Amino acid sequence: MSDTSEKLKLAILISGRGSNMITIHKACQDPYFPAEIALVLSHRPDAKGLTYAQEHNIPTEVVDHKEYSSRKDFENEMNSRIEPYKPDLIILAGFLRILNAPFIEKWPNRILNIHPSLLPKYKGLNTHARAIDDGQKEAGCTVHYVVPELDSGPIIVQKSVPILEDDTPNTLAQRVLEQEHIAYPEAIKLVANKLLST
Ligand code: GRF
Repeated sequence: MSDTSEKLKLAILISGRGSNMITIHKACQDPYFPAEIALVLSHRPDAKGLTYAQEHNIPTEVVDHKEYSSRKDFENEMNSRIEPYKPDLIILAGFLRILNAPFIEKWPNRILNIHPSLLPKYKGLNTHARAIDDGQKEAGCTVHYVVPELDSGPIIVQKSVPILEDDTPNTLAQRVLEQEHIAYPEAIKLVANKLLST
């Protein structure tokens, strides 16, 4: 691919510090990376990652979930803020709201998520504490397509790390996060190249 080739547009959804979003943004600086960020959206007006996006001239939107009486209204509003940017992919990067089927079905095979476990193990919350408590020897992260069933869509990339004797959920989370920052750009590249070649 040449550096003038078409790039896929990403809408990245975050809830907090946005370290995965930042890593993806850095990957997008490579002229050969097949995607660019069109939008960063958060449901939290105070999400730290929004500041990074604004400082780097990335368009941002905030849809504060507390202002909506139903999930349906919240998700409809998110969708109407996302659509004008015409993204090819929606990237959930530390996005802590569960998305419901009507939203997901508007973007079939177009939503990716990163989950801090080696799926299908440890769906849901507190993945690192559960893996340590179970005496697992290895943990990791998974980038997968989002389907209505939680943490269950087809897997795109997985990275594993050892669980050490003295690991706490925090030390393990840090080791896994380093792999998340490798896995997400890799997965986006795979999906984008596939979409651009079809
Ligand atoms: C990551 O550990 C991710 O797997 C989980 O939330 C964390 C997000 O971190 N879903 P960040 O906001 O990308 O820094």
